[in-house]
Amino acid sequence: MQSAYHQSMILGHPIHRYEEVTSTNLVAADLLRNGATEGTLVVADGQTQGRGRLGREWISPTGVNLYCSYILRAGDAEWISWIPLMASMAVAAAITGATRVNARIKWPNDVLIDGKKVAGVLAETVSPPQSISDAVQFVILGIGVNVNIPVSSLPESLHATTTSLMEHVGDDLDRDQLLTGLTTELDVQYRKYWEGQRLEIVREYLAMSDTIGKKVVAHFPVGSPMEGWADGIELDGSLRLRRGQGGLSTIHSADIVHLR
Ligand code: BTN
Repeated sequence: MQSAYHQSMILGHPIHRYEEVTSTNLVAADLLRNGATEGTLVVADGQTQGRGRLGREWISPTGVNLYCSYILRAGDAEWISWIPLMASMAVAAAITGATRVNARIKWPNDVLIDGKKVAGVLAETVSPPQSISDAVQFVILGIGVNVNIPVSSLPESLHATTTSLMEHVGDDLDRDQLLTGLTTELDVQYRKYWEGQRLEIVREYLAMSDTIGKKVVAHFPVGSPMEGWADGIELDGSLRLRRGQGGLSTIHSADIVHLR
């Protein structure tokens, strides 16, 4: 399969392109089970079963947005949670590179413009068949970016919290060009990950974070929400929340709402 990406890049070859799939993450997982390797990129024009974090749906109409998934090697368990965080950094950098619009990150990996979500990341760990490898774990890294969709065509419940690139640029954007920028940025982060430049990744993440320093509420699938000041990121990517009376909590997975 022909690749648009520089041969020195790890990510972006081969590329599998489809008009419509169930979910690019599901297709990438199938390809991995059938022998696809690190760097494989799956991109679709539309998805019929687009999936978001925490079991949600990812609205995926055909022909307007970017839906893609990369096959990555997982690395050690302690650092695996940085893969989706790095992906959000790459998305924010690619958006800013393509549009000059300032994109920021809401912990853990939502990409925001002016406080509204423009892109999301779904990372899933997959083991290939034993015949291919008995030790290496892979991550299917799925990324969705709202590119040319008018917000008015989304369900009304999303209008206050969701945006798309065309709403900020005032024109349609070339989705292929955005994908090239994204793959290039992600390749840079992925190399740093494997070269062990971890503190550099954390430092860059903090610089792009819209969450750190803000008062937030963390909502969990079960249990009461927790309010506090987002104080920092732990080395495993979890969020440190400073609460009243000097108490600190570490949050591994939640939906965060920024208060101020
Ligand atoms: C989120 O909830 O923020 C994560 C959304 C991830 C959506 C992308 S679109 C490409 C890939 N395929 C999917 O089914 N989901 C991810």
